[in-house]
Amino acid sequence: MSPSPLQTRTTSVDQTRALAGAVAELARPGDLLLLVGDLGAGKTAFTQGFGAGLGIDEQITSPTFALVQGYTGRLDLNHLDVYRLEQIDEALDLGLSELLDEGSVTLIEWGDTITSALPRDYLEVRITFGDEADDRALELRPVGPQWQARMRALSIALGAWAAQGAGPVADDTLAPGEDGAGAC
Ligand SMILES: Nc1ncnc2c1ncn2[C@@H]1O[C@H](COP(=O)(O)OP(=O)(O)OP(=O)(O)O)[C@@H](O)[C@H]1O
Ligand SMILES: [Mg+2]
Repeated sequence: MSPSPLQTRTTSVDQTRALAGAVAELARPGDLLLLVGDLGAGKTAFTQGFGAGLGIDEQITSPTFALVQGYTGRLDLNHLDVYRLEQIDEALDLGLSELLDEGSVTLIEWGDTITSALPRDYLEVRITFGDEADDRALELRPVGPQWQARMRALSIALGAWAAQGAGPVADDTLAPGEDGAGAC
């Protein structure tokens, strides 16, 4: 059975960045994350925190002119945004599989629009608006073995993050006895 998604909430952009930084601690070469959510939900904010977690000093902004923005850190980061139709076409032309084979980590905003062109092995991060202006709900859903094996570690990482004053994290990730630790 697939692990269920992890759910958490943030109440500020800094919290979303910090949470993303905690996720980045678990990143491995070749990883893919799809960032899903409406305009202004916080997909770029998540990417900024994730990049900081990878030790990227450079400021991460929305990729406007180039489809892929590359950054160098502990692991290199490819940041894509496929909101516009032509960006989707460009992404499909690009041969994303090559990008994903390069040993860097790839984050794609609006990535759910091109799943047919992607390997079925990624972490989907879905960000939705909450009641207050700065409230966001985040759902982290593993698709495929790479992230499924890390959901327990991810749950622990987010639990530690939540204990620092943010959160809460709903920890119904794994069935009793299931343990992804060996794969981490
Ligand atoms: N809890 C929060 N998490 C993330 N962003 C927040 C939060 N609260 C407020 N914000 C604000 O919401 C905005 C999120 O913008 P961001 O560019 O990250 O969204 P996006 O999902 O990438 O949008 P787009 O679809 O236009 O690319 C920022 O202005 C940020 O300051
Ligand atoms: Mg964005």
